[in-house]
Amino acid sequence: MVSKVTTVAFQGIEAVPVDVQVHVGPGMVAFNVVGLPDKAVAESRERVRAALSASGLALPAKRVTVNLAPADLPKEGSHYDLPIALGVMAAIGAIPAEFLTDFVVLGELGLDGTLAPVTGVLPAAMGANALGKGLICPQSSGGEAAWADADMTILAPGSLIQLANHFKGTQVLSRPVARLHGNAGNLPDLAEVKGQESARRALEIAAAGGHNLLMTGPPGSGKSMLASRLPSILPPLTPRELLEVSMIASLAGELGEGKLTDRRPFRAPHHSASMAALVGGGLRAKPGEVSLAHNGVLFLDELPEFSPQVLDSLRQPLESGEAVIARANHRVTYPARIQLVAAMNPCRCGYLGDEALACGRAPKCALDYQGKISGPLY
Ligand SMILES: Nc1ncnc2c1ncn2[C@@H]1O[C@H](COP(=O)(O)OP(=O)(O)O)[C@@H](O)[C@H]1O
Ligand SMILES: [Mg+2]
Repeated sequence: MVSKVTTVAFQGIEAVPVDVQVHVGPGMVAFNVVGLPDKAVAESRERVRAALSASGLALPAKRVTVNLAPADLPKEGSHYDLPIALGVMAAIGAIPAEFLTDFVVLGELGLDGTLAPVTGVLPAAMGANALGKGLICPQSSGGEAAWADADMTILAPGSLIQLANHFKGTQVLSRPVARLHGNAGNLPDLAEVKGQESARRALEIAAAGGHNLLMTGPPGSGKSMLASRLPSILPPLTPRELLEVSMIASLAGELGEGKLTDRRPFRAPHHSASMAALVGGGLRAKPGEVSLAHNGVLFLDELPEFSPQVLDSLRQPLESGEAVIARANHRVTYPARIQLVAAMNPCRCGYLGDEALACGRAPKCALDYQGKISGPLY
């Protein structure tokens, strides 16, 4: 018989519905996964096999085929374990198949049948809500899912057995609660800055209006110190912005304990950052620093030390407010509306214009140093 479970694949912050179809039939004993699975998805059959037997369910000595439809959409990540396991359980009659039709399912399985947290639970919950379905996700990600809608059904079991017990009615799972991070630690305070009236005023105007800002000055003049105090004067996120920001953080796996925060993101990547780290990309087209700083601040300290190609790759997201990652088979877009704050020394030695400390190569060395930043960015 064939059973069907709905899960999702991620394209940017969008969750695309994916059908997990499980067929258990006669033939040579095997367990195959088809439908463009990547390595992590293909390996899920080993985790599913072990987790099912740890939960007291042996796989039948039959041919098990799992198809992830639509078959031409690449499937990446470890969150397909749970939908595959539930599909198998429904196909062998361990749980009634009709229980699963109202849910979108995602989660990673351990060999002992426990559920491990996965990335992208918040976008998946929003997607499920749009489809009019509930969500089944790992316990530790439940708090994140609860943000999608106060009325949708969310099951967040800690293990496969807990979920089976819930369906049997022996131990009913309660709905996870949406939680906000409290004021996590004290931020460096702008009040600690002595003097620097004009720099502080510039910082305040930039924070209030969301303007880009470039600080130039000799080493030790307090550029990095001023920038690190910017988060303390940024306005909190609006509820709508909070969801957008958290969806990106969820996909990047940066939401700790499923809690969200209403603090504006402040990202300060090191100047050795690669293009993929900054604008996104890499193996699973993950969001980069520009997208993680969406609705917040991207701070680039020692601006000319970044590689020129990396800096120029920021021009398109700055212009359009979104980062487009083109891959061989599809394009992924993440929102990236940021406030760019940068700091730099005026020249390599840093003391341009200072009679006593400047090196002998001014103004040539200053022109070279500042020339590393392309005109449009400046
Ligand atoms: N206006 C100021 N008020 C208080 N401390 C300051 C001020 N300017 C500089 N400092 C001190 O100098 C240190 C070095 O500043 P820093 O921000 O690293 O300089 P820069 O990044 O411009 O090279 C800071 O950590 C801070 O202790
Ligand atoms: Mg500095």
